[in-house]
Amino acid sequence: MRSTPGLPATWAALLCLLAALACLLNPAFSVKEHDFKKCDQSGFCKRNRAFADDAAAHRTTWSSPYDVIPESASLKDGQWQAVILKTINNGERARFPITVSLLKSGVARISIDEEKRQKKEIELRHNSKARKERYSEAEDWVIVGGLELDKQAQVAFQDKSQVNIKYGGDQDLEVVIKFSPFEVDFKRGGESHVRFNDRGLFNMEHWRPKIEKPTAEEGKGEDGTKNDSGEDESTWWDESFGGNTDSKPRGPESVGMDISFVGYEQVFGIPEHTGPISLKQTRGGDGNHQEPYRLYNTDVFEYILDSPMTLYGAIPFMQAHRKDSSVGVFWLNAAETWIDVVKEKDSKNPLNLGKGSTSTHTHWFSEAGILDAFVFMGPTPRDLTKRYGELTGYTAMPQEFSIGYHQCRWNYISDDDVKDVDRRMDKYKIPYDVIWLDIEYTEEKKYFTWDPHAFANPVSMGQQLDAHGRKLVVIIDPHIKKVDNYPVSSNMLSKDLAVHNKDDETYEGWCWPGSSNWVDCFNPKANEWWKTLFKYDSFKGTLENTFLWNDMNEPSVFNGPETTMPKDNIHFGNWEHRDIHNLNGLTFHNASWEAMVSRKKGEKRRPFILTRSFYAGSQRLGAMWTGDNQASWEHLAASIPMVLNQGISGFPFAGADVGGFFGNPDKDLMARWYQTGIFYPFMRAHAHIDSRRREPYMLGEPYTEILTKALRLRYSLLPSWYTAFFHANREGSPVVRPMFWTHPSEESGFAIDDQLFVGTTGLLAKPIVEKDKFSTDIWIPDDEVYFDYTTYQVMKTQKGKRVTVNAAIDSVPLLMRGGHIFPRRDIPRRSSAAMRFDDYTLVVTVSKDGSAEGDLYADDGDTFDNEKGQYIYRKFSLADNVLTSTDAEGRNAKSVKAGSWLKAMRDVHVDRIIVIGAPASLDVKEVQVESEGKNWAVKVDYHAAEKGRAAFAVLGRVGTKIGEDWSIKI
Ligand code: NOJ
Repeated sequence: MRSTPGLPATWAALLCLLAALACLLNPAFSVKEHDFKKCDQSGFCKRNRAFADDAAAHRTTWSSPYDVIPESASLKDGQWQAVILKTINNGERARFPITVSLLKSGVARISIDEEKRQKKEIELRHNSKARKERYSEAEDWVIVGGLELDKQAQVAFQDKSQVNIKYGGDQDLEVVIKFSPFEVDFKRGGESHVRFNDRGLFNMEHWRPKIEKPTAEEGKGEDGTKNDSGEDESTWWDESFGGNTDSKPRGPESVGMDISFVGYEQVFGIPEHTGPISLKQTRGGDGNHQEPYRLYNTDVFEYILDSPMTLYGAIPFMQAHRKDSSVGVFWLNAAETWIDVVKEKDSKNPLNLGKGSTSTHTHWFSEAGILDAFVFMGPTPRDLTKRYGELTGYTAMPQEFSIGYHQCRWNYISDDDVKDVDRRMDKYKIPYDVIWLDIEYTEEKKYFTWDPHAFANPVSMGQQLDAHGRKLVVIIDPHIKKVDNYPVSSNMLSKDLAVHNKDDETYEGWCWPGSSNWVDCFNPKANEWWKTLFKYDSFKGTLENTFLWNDMNEPSVFNGPETTMPKDNIHFGNWEHRDIHNLNGLTFHNASWEAMVSRKKGEKRRPFILTRSFYAGSQRLGAMWTGDNQASWEHLAASIPMVLNQGISGFPFAGADVGGFFGNPDKDLMARWYQTGIFYPFMRAHAHIDSRRREPYMLGEPYTEILTKALRLRYSLLPSWYTAFFHANREGSPVVRPMFWTHPSEESGFAIDDQLFVGTTGLLAKPIVEKDKFSTDIWIPDDEVYFDYTTYQVMKTQKGKRVTVNAAIDSVPLLMRGGHIFPRRDIPRRSSAAMRFDDYTLVVTVSKDGSAEGDLYADDGDTFDNEKGQYIYRKFSLADNVLTSTDAEGRNAKSVKAGSWLKAMRDVHVDRIIVIGAPASLDVKEVQVESEGKNWAVKVDYHAAEKGRAAFAVLGRVGTKIGEDWSIKI
């Protein structure tokens, strides 16, 4: 061993040993960053960045080599089509057909393909069976609507150098396409907002044959020597990383584009990463990242915080926001993708006239596939999420139980263990809905089997849970153990339903079960087969209250490059894994979804499936969680921006492992994590197999009580959470909302990502995420009045300023914004199922001007009958001292033929109404209710304002039916 200068060798050895021990004790040090590529270890990333560097170095003379052939251009029925020519070094030209589709919604789509590959006029190397075309089928998995063309789109101006097309009806949108060099400028109200290729970084690596050289010459480029055309070929062909070689049979094929958000200083989105929601710059500098944000779904063991490193899922949707304006881009490409972000002061607008003086320049590049990008022109964050949802689908209405609390660990060791946890949760009166089984429930990691010793009686386990209104979630992963006498394996192999390797044989790799094969869910036949495995009489031991967890679907392959599949593996349709990698998780989740809806003929129930890997569109299929975090305060803090980012990116059913996956949280951390977790749309406690047991009752008092109190808060608000999911389902809005989304005019709040609003309730939470901290400062976005949730204290707030809120270890900082009405169910019960037909409490927080608004959505939380009108959707309003409940859609309740759930809801009432900031007119003994032609008096318990606490009144029992109209003069 070499010694450190100045230190004797023995000391140096001792220091090394100590450092190694420190790594073992603190898992945060053991992240294996070097297992994952940095940009300069990924050929196409390096090439595209080098291209950008070249352009920057020659800024004044740089010209993009892409030109539109003016004669090829035409606009018809909302689609502009043309051919782009790329001038190649040797004077040759490559042709790229482009289509700009102008959609009725005001969204525009740019798609660019490569003619030679389209026509399959290329040669593959290594006798590969791979397809010759660029992958263009991502839309088949992702896009579910919103593609109607704006046939009114019109050419407003055209000459030899450009075309200007007006589109988007009265939204005053215009796209200007410049021909030479090719550039696209999206305008709203005559002003540029989004520009493609204005820095000239558009790059479609055209197909070229590999000119075989004598061996001695190979790798010449590595040390800077170029090929005959002056290009560095060193990363074009085979590429190795971590002992794996990618054979790249199609050679270089990447697609890159610079996209500038003109006058926008902040950009958001592109999950999944750790770090602030307002994305950082990625080209170095103080506090910035050095690496581009990477999207390449991977099982990153013990991931690090505040990093652009890739994680398990990818949503290539970015939003730019400035005061009163939002625009966005969705880059529909399923291959490995990197995104550089650079912000630049705008020299043309130094005085900040009209728009921001800083622009964000982004640079996107993917390894393969066509260029396919959607451009959203806002102007509000709400418009973006709505339009994005129209295209990729809205969040599925969840199983109602799934927004309750989930109790998980790796692993509950036996069916008796599960029953015991279930009993103890009841004994300690801790509400929960679901208990989970990780991989150890199976016999030797063979999915669809039970360990015959530990889980000898799954049915009795499921039945006990069912008797308590609870559910079981079991894990099913995509790797299938390769072993004899396992029908799932032999069936899959005999039907040829697994992913193939580059030589077109069944691919074999390592995962939990040891040697495994991977079901190929791109194959419709595999999906049909997958369905058969879930039938109750096939997966014996599962019951109607069994639901699903899909893990490791990036896919995780322990001995694969970057812990995943080789890129030259072949999927159904002969697409290379390279082409579809980021979609892989979605296709598995989708196959499981289809399987769950067809478990039994005639059974039409919403699936609940948690997925670790995801892509745009996964929101239609279930929930996600942020993977293997750590039991540390830093990871607790990091979870809030991650969950918020999911919400604005169209996939709000998100949460982090409560308590932290790796390690053993201390009791304070547990308390704060539960108080944070109750604000995750998906709330599940989970723990690594080596961690100590930590079910809430294990902590002892006062902590068990503290956790229970937090859970009760979550449970009482379930009707509000469900309503928030309904809004996500209808409009794509986030379930928990960051400040820029709810208050797009308040600049000082744009980057705030440690506090959130719950749906439309006006509930503003800022969980404590630091050790030994018992107060926090909440940023206030407007001039409205704010009350403390528990004390009804009127907070001394000022718009754009922070207000201090105390939070002892048993409480969570939570404010109520004036002007809202939100529903609760206040009777403490063991599970959401037990609360199904409980009466409601309505909380009215009176605004400064004496008004309030809110809503409640409810359905059976289980079937698809909601799609047939079997739901209740009420709008509550306080105006001119009259409190009313009306049908939110003006539906005549009697026009819907009530099914069993709606009928049962006829007996569900509003029990109490709590008016906070109550007007003096409520200082009376009773008020009159009018409902459906009947009148009656309701008692009022009025409390005048005192010592900073708002006046409040409790009305009750109200006794109005939840599904009927009523009004109360207050
Ligand atoms: C990895 C998952 O992220 C984790 O939650 C799970 O417990 C293990 N796989 C074992 O299945």
